[in-house]
Amino acid sequence: MTSRYQDVYDGWKDNGEAFWDEAAKGIDWFTPYTKTFDGSLGPYGRWFVGGECNTCYNCVDRHVEHGRPGQPAIIYDSAVTGGKRTYTYLELQEQVGAMAALLREKGVEKGTMVLIYMPMIPQATFAMLACARLGAIHSVVFGGFASQELAVRIDDCQPKAIVTASCGVEPGRVVEYKPLLDKAIELSSHKPDFCFVQQREQHLAELIEGRDYDLGALMDVAVTEKMTTECVAVSATDPLYVLYTSGTTGQPKGVVRDNGGHMVALKWSMENLYGIDPGEVFWAASDVGWVVGHSYIVYAPLLHGAATVLYEGKPVGTPDAGAFWRVISEHAVVSLFTAPTAFRAIKKEDPEGTELTKYSLGGLRSLFLAGERADPDTILWAENLLGVPVIDHWWQTETGWCIAGNPLGLGKLPVKLGSSTVPMPGYDMRVLDDEGNGVGTGELGNIVIKLPMPPGCLPTLWNADERFKEAYLAEFPGYYKTADAGMIDEDGYLFIMSRTDDIINVAGHRLSTGGMEEVLSEHPDVAECAVIGIADNLKGQLPCGFVVLKSGVTKSTEVIEKELVMLVRDKVGPVAAFKLAITVDRLPKTRSGKILRATMRKIVDGQEFRMPATIDDPAILDEIAEAISVRGLASAS
Ligand code: COA
Ligand code: AMP
Repeated sequence: MTSRYQDVYDGWKDNGEAFWDEAAKGIDWFTPYTKTFDGSLGPYGRWFVGGECNTCYNCVDRHVEHGRPGQPAIIYDSAVTGGKRTYTYLELQEQVGAMAALLREKGVEKGTMVLIYMPMIPQATFAMLACARLGAIHSVVFGGFASQELAVRIDDCQPKAIVTASCGVEPGRVVEYKPLLDKAIELSSHKPDFCFVQQREQHLAELIEGRDYDLGALMDVAVTEKMTTECVAVSATDPLYVLYTSGTTGQPKGVVRDNGGHMVALKWSMENLYGIDPGEVFWAASDVGWVVGHSYIVYAPLLHGAATVLYEGKPVGTPDAGAFWRVISEHAVVSLFTAPTAFRAIKKEDPEGTELTKYSLGGLRSLFLAGERADPDTILWAENLLGVPVIDHWWQTETGWCIAGNPLGLGKLPVKLGSSTVPMPGYDMRVLDDEGNGVGTGELGNIVIKLPMPPGCLPTLWNADERFKEAYLAEFPGYYKTADAGMIDEDGYLFIMSRTDDIINVAGHRLSTGGMEEVLSEHPDVAECAVIGIADNLKGQLPCGFVVLKSGVTKSTEVIEKELVMLVRDKVGPVAAFKLAITVDRLPKTRSGKILRATMRKIVDGQEFRMPATIDDPAILDEIAEAISVRGLASAS
């Protein structure tokens, strides 16, 4: 089939508002919007102004009302507990309605903030949709973050309620959530009014009288009594959620998502990018704590009337490298979306793909990869094994949906390995040099998006318009800075090469090296430090911390390094995968005192590097090379 992509993209370029008006017909509005886009509102404008709608209504109720009550909506499959349960749209409506009623009884209403700190269990999705139903705003925090990260988020979004579970289940260990939550609440200045705790049989949490409530027990009664609430009308521009993502400091950025634009963009993407029909089964193997989980485990498949798989487990080790193939065949998944690191993990454990022979994957049509650049080896391996198109696509927490991809629904474009293909409608991409001038075709530079951003993208940061403008709009006036570097080739294909800031990408998770440096600096024996991301075959990057100790320290460096590893695990969380702290005498710096992180990264990755002209003392680079070669890491000169 010839791709319709170019016609569709050109159609959007000719008349962007008409394009989005057409897409907006895929959503049921309570009150029609009066302006498709109003550039005078917010830091760069707002979409679907004057419209009223409800995201939960569009995800759940309208499918119950229009012929899908008995169709699967959420297929929960836990490889770590063996638990499985499918919720039809009608059952989903009952669960979500009941949880919304319970939240409302305790004072949650339109505009109230609710923080959700949960593992991959159905109640996490019910809680998100229940907030949407009430017009409340949710903020989901990934379960792999520890107390301090959670506390920072509690203080920033000031939730009235927290919905949590007694524990998460990681391979080989049960992670108790309640002590982490209790410590976070102790650390934060803001205190929630109440917490709902889903008790799981793997571990029962102790509840604090007057603050904590047993969610499962409350839900049993609420569902039996058919408690529910109506879907509250909210403005299209009202926030649906705030999702924190790493910035360059330890203070995360609260990405705001609105209701109207978000629904329009996600609904469009299901058909045109992913090529999914309502009623089919879509699986995003991510976590509800990340943006991929928000958009493609929960909202997009449900907006589209598809079924979504909620998988609690890993690609390997739960129990083996055939876990993904089992889920695909058992639940008739037509499209899988995951991070390249998951496939690298499978490839490492089962390079010949022998596990696949045990299952029939006949219905699978495509594999989408995102979260980090998909390396050609992994793409080719997966394509060869599965016999379906493997599509790399690029997006960010901030955009909420794909910036550049290969739109299978419009007809597949030729794949160029290393490229995430072409911009989606709504995105006018440019590559600029550091002075803001356009660079030539095929030349590297800063990738920016000409304003306005399309529907679905963040309108601002939570309570921080100025930070939003400063972080994203100030450097290149008229454009949104993606903070990714790359190029556009002669066919308009985008190649995303690296971040232009100190964000690193560990197993598809975005982490701030600045945040980890703040933690290392808290250690009483550390004088200064630098955390860099070093190349890793499995996780893409791993953090590595170089520390200079204060003079007169008596403890051994070995002990201190172990303490530092524990400190990051305790404060940031295990998800940081911080396992390497290296003591050095000095850090390489420019004459003006800036730490030469990029040069250090090249040394550790064993890449060629040029001696920076501004370096203060070149001998320090030799000291760094020596320190890492002692640890068996690469070194080049
Ligand atoms: N709650 C508590 N701890 C968690 C957690 C959670 N929700 N998720 C992860 N962790 C812990 C893990 O147990 C692990 O702890 P450990 O250091 O004690 O082993 C640590 O955080 C790192 O976890 P993870 O990144 O999952 O690494 P892993 O080594 O366990 O598994 C992969 C490696 C590649 C299999 C895994 O990273 C993976 O499946 N990645 C998919 C990527 C993905 O979903 N990306 C989201 C964006 S699309
Ligand atoms: P996150 O906000 O966690 O989704 O991370 C976004 C960042 O991950 C982007 O700015 C990129 O640096 C990186 N990223 C995500 N997807 C891709 C991709 N397909 N190719 C290259 N980099 C990617």
